[in-house]
Amino acid sequence: MKFKAIRQYLEDGKRVSRFVDQVIDDLDPGDVVIKTQYAAVNYKDARGVMGIGKVIGRFPCIPGIEMAGVVTESASPAFKVGDVVTVQGGRDFGMRRDGAYSEYVRVPAAWVGRVPVGTDPFDVVAMGLAAYTSAVAVDEILRRVKTTDGPILVTGGTGGSSSFAIDMLAGLGYEVVASTGKKSEEEYLKAIGAARVIGRDEIAGGDKPLEEQRWAGAVDAVGGAPLDAVLRSAKKHAVICAFGNAASETLITSIYPFILRSVSLVGINGNHPVPERGEIWARMAKGGDLHPQHLHQIAYPIKFENLLEHCAKVMQAGIRGRAVVTF
Ligand SMILES: NC(=O)c1ccc[n+]([C@@H]2O[C@H](COP(=O)([O-])OP(=O)(O)OC[C@H]3O[C@@H](n4cnc5c(N)ncnc54)[C@H](OP(=O)(O)O)[C@@H]3O)[C@@H](O)[C@H]2O)c1
Repeated sequence: MKFKAIRQYLEDGKRVSRFVDQVIDDLDPGDVVIKTQYAAVNYKDARGVMGIGKVIGRFPCIPGIEMAGVVTESASPAFKVGDVVTVQGGRDFGMRRDGAYSEYVRVPAAWVGRVPVGTDPFDVVAMGLAAYTSAVAVDEILRRVKTTDGPILVTGGTGGSSSFAIDMLAGLGYEVVASTGKKSEEEYLKAIGAARVIGRDEIAGGDKPLEEQRWAGAVDAVGGAPLDAVLRSAKKHAVICAFGNAASETLITSIYPFILRSVSLVGINGNHPVPERGEIWARMAKGGDLHPQHLHQIAYPIKFENLLEHCAKVMQAGIRGRAVVTF
């Protein structure tokens, strides 16, 4: 049986992704074969597909780090044919082992999580790493910042992860300010929970080491100069959660927010396999305090055949929300 996948090759030193015909034995070995129904498009996936940076660490390789689908073969007693399952956050999946952008995937059973009965697998992929990482950051804010302490800034506002952070923080009663490079998306950002929308260059009042105190907390998806501006305009005892590098992986900043305003910079890593996501994952389910209330405004389907074009748009910051590839 032949099926379609996107594979990345190293050709004359260049990383090139293209659609190919595959059979199951072209895939890396594993205990469980899954027919793909949905796959996510994270920033990291778009970089991987476009051959930017070193996301893909082995050639050839199928990109895509998150998927959900139905088990068609299983050598593991943990899963049987027909089970609806998800693979998210398996450490090498879609980077050094064949990943999600394929009509079938084959993986070790330890990377597979069960989609709870009654839960739509679209929703599981739609939330995925983006909502989980935001939920870890939002939980940190919830534990350390009161809703009365002041506004919480979310940078890269229209991005997939940031959209979920806005939604969750607003749902918990915080005053959320979204910063964005796309002021044209103000209506979208307000619809998912932002009280105010500012431009990327309006985070701090100026470029002094300590600026006017604005933010009681922040969720930062972009790093670089915007994160520096967040830190310099953070209030005393503010909690700044950083998980992204969409602007830059380099942070040059002042020591003063830390030593004069007791600002905390907290690093957030959401790359935990689903079976290890525990309490936060449960709180993201329907009825939980971290369940995104605007999931279907944030997430939208795209066709597998349009994925290469979509990834190019992501790299130009030309998208909003979270695309879910449908197979
Ligand atoms: N640590 C972790 O575990 C973890 C997990 C998930 C994601 N991440 C990281 O978090 C970031 C966001 O991921 P995502 O999947 O949510 O990405 P995404 O959906 O592509 O969103 C990224 C957003 O960042 C903003 N942006 C893009 N280029 C920018 C630039 N040059 N300067 C400033 N802002 C820029 C844009 O929002 P606006 O136009 O609205 O400003 C864009 O929509 C990525 O760096 C990703 O690698 C980390």
